[in-house]
Amino acid sequence: MNGTDDLILGMESSCDETCAAVVSNGRTVLSSAVASQFELHAKFGGIVPEIACRAHIECINVIIEQVLVQASVQPQQLCAVAAVNTPGLVGSLLIGFTAAKTLAWVWDKPLIAIDHLQAHGYAAAMAVHEQLWPALALIVSGGHTAIYLCHNPLDMQLLGSTIDDAAGEAFDKVANILDLGYPGGPAIENLARQGNPTAVNFPRAMLGRDSLDFSFSGLKTAVLYHVRGTDLSRPDSSHLSLQQKADIAASFQAAVVDVLVSKTMLGSKRSGLGRLILGGGVAANGALRSALTQACRQRDYMLFLPPMKLCTDNAAMVAGLAWHKFLARQFANLGESVST
Ligand code: KG4
Ligand code: ZN
Repeated sequence: MNGTDDLILGMESSCDETCAAVVSNGRTVLSSAVASQFELHAKFGGIVPEIACRAHIECINVIIEQVLVQASVQPQQLCAVAAVNTPGLVGSLLIGFTAAKTLAWVWDKPLIAIDHLQAHGYAAAMAVHEQLWPALALIVSGGHTAIYLCHNPLDMQLLGSTIDDAAGEAFDKVANILDLGYPGGPAIENLARQGNPTAVNFPRAMLGRDSLDFSFSGLKTAVLYHVRGTDLSRPDSSHLSLQQKADIAASFQAAVVDVLVSKTMLGSKRSGLGRLILGGGVAANGALRSALTQACRQRDYMLFLPPMKLCTDNAAMVAGLAWHKFLARQFANLGESVST
């Protein structure tokens, strides 16, 4: 290899962020850009797919050009072009994947299709210099919450997942109930710092002692009833003081973290794996990071946490994982499409 044969341009547009990055050797991030659409969706309290799609179209070319310039990389120096093609919002996925297909065709480079959840599972590996696999991965995002047995970066076996809301979705919905704005995760975490996590004893849905599945919709409803009364007589959360809201935020967060940590420890015990990976937007949550760190320390497990900027959606993890697909010659053809 001549030193530039390991450069990959990656793209991610599965939801509400337009991302591109240039990564060398699956690990070294030369440039990474994220165009966030938070402000566009904030007033709706959640993501509006049509708005997301249009915003991706408006900025994808700018973002791609930006990361190439920042990395001082010419298209001919790339060894491949990669983009997420599953799972996500169909219109959003189409923008990034079509851009990747077009550039791969025009520049005559291999096209690599990336699974968004596999990319989240790979993010933690970019910060360490040792092999992580085999390991158990907890992936917690706005759309998914799941535990995987990872044999290698490209082979993740699903052990359990949410049967209703994802953990990040629960954070967003509870933030909405408390009128904290969108995205809810960081807002809940900030407010929870001033609250008492034992103030309200919210339910922890374990779904049976042996289950590795998750359920967060009952917890979300419990918060709703706690705030608005069991007959939902109060219109919103305006009757609560800031301290009461902080106590609810802290108690809700503690319930989510308890469930995530106990299920992960159960998965680890069952699979006999003392190596754990955390990934996805909720991996940015400080309470989750410290509770998992403590649980792993008690059991002498190794825990691999993604750096903060690789937790929420980004294209560095996409271009990083694509390197492993490049080495395995797992290329997509131009007829390939997206799936939700
Ligand atoms: O992975 P991600 O960026 O997008 C999806 O793939 O869904 O995850 C976004 C989710 C959102 O639900 C957001 O509220 C949550 O991650 N999130 C957090 C934090 N930062 C982002 N949840 C809890 N604490 C945080 N600090
Ligand atoms: Zn994600």
